[in-house]
Amino acid sequence: MSDGSRADRQTDAVRPMIAADEIADAVRRLGRQISSDYSDRPLTLLGVLSGSIMFVSDLMRQIELPHQLGLVQASSYRGTATVPGELSINDEFLPNLKDRHVLLVDDIFDTGQTMLRLMHTLEHHDPASLKSAVLLWKKDRTRVELTPDYHCFAIPDAFVVGYGLDYNDEYRYLPYVGVVEP
Ligand code: IMP
Ligand code: MG
Repeated sequence: MSDGSRADRQTDAVRPMIAADEIADAVRRLGRQISSDYSDRPLTLLGVLSGSIMFVSDLMRQIELPHQLGLVQASSYRGTATVPGELSINDEFLPNLKDRHVLLVDDIFDTGQTMLRLMHTLEHHDPASLKSAVLLWKKDRTRVELTPDYHCFAIPDAFVVGYGLDYNDEYRYLPYVGVVEP
C-alpha cells in the first residue's frame, strides 16, 4: 500500500539487481563453505559496521560451527555520498582476537581500501589467521593488491543499496540489493 510518504518514494527509485532469495541461497552456500574450511578452528566473525549487519547476522545462522561475533566500525568521511573519503576505524569494542581465526565480514569490496586498512589494523591484535568475506565485489574497481577470500556476488560498477548497504544512510532495510535510479 502506498501512502505517498518519503519512504515509499525512495523504495520506488531502486531497481532490483539481486533478489532476496538469491541472496539467501548464496549466504547458505557461503555458510557451508566456511563451516568446512574452519572446522576445528576457533572462529571469530568480525562484522564491519554498519553495512554488514544483515549479511553477518544471516551468515552466522548458516555456519554450522561454534563461533564468536565481534564488530568493528569503519567509516569514511565523504566528500559526496558515493565517493569514499578518509577512513576512520574504531576498534575499541573488539573482543579478544589473539589466536582466533578471524573472518572479516563486510557488505562490499569496492576499491578495496577499507578492507586493506582493516586488515592492517587487525594484524596488531595477533589473530591466528585473518581472512575476508564480502557479499558483493566490484571486481573492475579494485585498486589494491588484495582480493576478498570469499564473496557471494561479483557485480558491475554501479552504486547499489539494500541488504545493509546505504546511500546517505537510507535504504539499508531493503531485503534485496538494487541500484538507485538517478
Ligand atoms: P572500498 O572502496 O572498498 O574501500 O569501499 C568503501 C566502502 O564504501 C564500503 O565498505 C561501502 O560501505 C561503501 N561502498 C562502496 N560501494 C558502495 C555501493 O555501491 N553502495 C553502497 N556503499 C558502497
Ligand atoms: Mg561499509
